[in-house]
Amino acid sequence: MNRPADIRYLFEPRSVAVLGASTDRGKIGYRLVENIVNGGYAGKLFPVNPKGGEVLGHRIWRSLDEVSEEIDLAVIAVPAKAAYQAVEQCAKRGVKHVPIITSGFSEIGNTEEERRMVRLAREHGMRLLGPNIFGIFSARSSLNATFGPADIHHGSVAIVTQSGALGIAMIGKTAVENIGLSAIVSVGNKSDIDESDLLGYLVADEQTRIILMYIEGVQNGERLVATLKQAALKKPVVVVKSGRSQRGAIAAASHTGSLAGSDEVFDAIMRQCGVLRGESLEEAFNWCKFLAAAPAPEGENTVIVTNGGGIGVLATDASEKYGIKLYDDARLLKEIFGPVTPDFGSTKNPVDLTGQAGPQQYNAALAAALANDHIDATLGLYCETAVFDAQTLAGMIRSNAEAYRKAGKPIVFSILGGEMTESCIGDLRKESVPVFGEVYQAVSCLGALYRHRRHAAEYSDAVAEAEIDVSLVEKSVASARAAGRTFMLPREARHLMKAIGVAMPQNAVAHNFEEAVRAADKIGYPVVMKIVSPDIIHKSDAGGVALDLENKDEVIDAYQAIMVNARRYKPDARLEGVEISQMLVRTTETIVGARQDKSFGPTVMFGLGGIYVEVMKDVAFRAASLSRKEAQLMVKEIRSYPLLLGVRGEKRKDIDAVVDTIVRLATLVRHCRSISDIELNPLIVYDSGQGVMALDVRVLIGDAQ
Ligand code: COA
Repeated sequence: MNRPADIRYLFEPRSVAVLGASTDRGKIGYRLVENIVNGGYAGKLFPVNPKGGEVLGHRIWRSLDEVSEEIDLAVIAVPAKAAYQAVEQCAKRGVKHVPIITSGFSEIGNTEEERRMVRLAREHGMRLLGPNIFGIFSARSSLNATFGPADIHHGSVAIVTQSGALGIAMIGKTAVENIGLSAIVSVGNKSDIDESDLLGYLVADEQTRIILMYIEGVQNGERLVATLKQAALKKPVVVVKSGRSQRGAIAAASHTGSLAGSDEVFDAIMRQCGVLRGESLEEAFNWCKFLAAAPAPEGENTVIVTNGGGIGVLATDASEKYGIKLYDDARLLKEIFGPVTPDFGSTKNPVDLTGQAGPQQYNAALAAALANDHIDATLGLYCETAVFDAQTLAGMIRSNAEAYRKAGKPIVFSILGGEMTESCIGDLRKESVPVFGEVYQAVSCLGALYRHRRHAAEYSDAVAEAEIDVSLVEKSVASARAAGRTFMLPREARHLMKAIGVAMPQNAVAHNFEEAVRAADKIGYPVVMKIVSPDIIHKSDAGGVALDLENKDEVIDAYQAIMVNARRYKPDARLEGVEISQMLVRTTETIVGARQDKSFGPTVMFGLGGIYVEVMKDVAFRAASLSRKEAQLMVKEIRSYPLLLGVRGEKRKDIDAVVDTIVRLATLVRHCRSISDIELNPLIVYDSGQGVMALDVRVLIGDAQ
């Protein structure tokens, strides 16, 4: 096994071979050579085809073996059945990176052939890109090794895309939108090189200011989370993911798995990483274009300058949606904008210059906002009016945008009107002036800028580590496994809870009603009784639960009723007795869960119990490698958070203890991979300083992988 090749040579190869190079203009093997030649690649190019000959002034080599020079990159464009042999040729010649254009592998179920190529590559320290890709473009080496469009504008946005066809379309779109690219990489089946590998290079690449990723599915999510968190600290990372609509049904909270709709998990984890997730490709492109040119704001105080009340209100709504802080110091606003606003206008934010405003009024108001240090960004709104000479609109916007750019303060415009206004938008966008027709689009760009800024402030790379007794957890796992179970019995789960330091109510197991009474006397009334059986998971459905038992007689009656019910529910069930536990005052109920997510590995979830989770779907998710601060933000994120702060005279709840419990479960699923699911439901939260207590815990066991 050789050391894997440096990813740098994928983007900056000194020599490129094309296996499957063709003289037939209709073939991909021809297009690749044509794009490399016309794109201005300055390194050495070796087209390879057993037929030999010449293409676009370059000799075609009959085999890679004939080439004596070192080859950094070899693009494979031969049919699937010949691909393995081509990879073999590359391995033999010590090629560093091999983008495989060819389709017909894992995407159609031909997984073994793909794995075979990866195994071979790994043995030689060679990296594979794809298969099933359109190639790679890298501005740094003027390399267009794609069969996509020849016309790629060089610039500062790097695109990593899982969909090839969409990627090719994106190249076209960036050209129309005048977005310059520093790189575009198609990752296809991600058999070897994935987004994390590419981010490693792109984050360090100075030419790349923004990274845009189109993702369909995440495989090695744990690594991606760690890479993205770092990446988003350095530059904005924008993600578009398909599959948003497949919201996992949030069923009755019987199982953490059912709470974790995968798109919600993806969404939450992207936020945790500081990644900006676009709702659509259009939004993502808008952000990329805006962020590539926008200066970093000093703070978050934003003002809206408008000539229309209605559009101002729309922008105010949009600001709330995108988390934009509108500056609201009425006295200062009056001081700043009073001299430039007519008496019948408004100096409150939105600053309304009224429908009679012309370019001079706009210039004066926008300049006043630019000059004032309390204001960090401006949103300029315009509704077409007869008094504003439309011929001067573009000039007004252009000159103000330029003044803001020079001064390092962000500004974005939204202008609404007829044909003249529309054509003004088209012209200005070509010049990369941040102007939109739709208010929400303009505001969402500012929102993206602020969210990126906030990530750095909220970020902490210290993963919170709770003290847990891993060997005790493993004992509980082993006990369940020895009995052939994939879930823990209450006593095993109790041991596990002890091992991770989460309190549960006092309890005991009784095997007859005398024992039950003795236990209840010892614990103190009222008590709760539950059936103990390895064959009954849903105890309430089986009539195996009795609550609020006040005295000895009630305990005896309940014991007998539970046994009869359980026997009737499942005649062959093994009944091991009845668990008696302290009946707690149920105040605020929450759910804390953790699991091994298929894409992201260990994850945690939190929500308020009962209807809040089941009906309102009010839950928060995070990757389990989280800091204490991230766990705090997670708790704050749910809509019902105010209930934890205490409403209607209630005291604040022990939020610290909730955060502590989240950290404990996160530590557990990070260190004990065989715990596939754990859910504390409900976790009772007492008043501040009085802690939490898990009333019930459900633990599922899976593979340790
Ligand atoms: N080494 C070098 N060249 C070889 C070769 C080898 N081992 N085996 C075959 N070739 C040559 C062929 O002779 C042919 O050259 P020619 O035009 O001179 O005859 C060339 O490679 C291509 O082979 P061909 O059989 O003509 O295939 P093709 O060009 O029709 O298709 C692919 C090849 C890779 C394009 C096709 O198999 C494929 O996978 N297409 C889908 C690509 C795709 O969509 N990718 C995802 C994008 S998002």
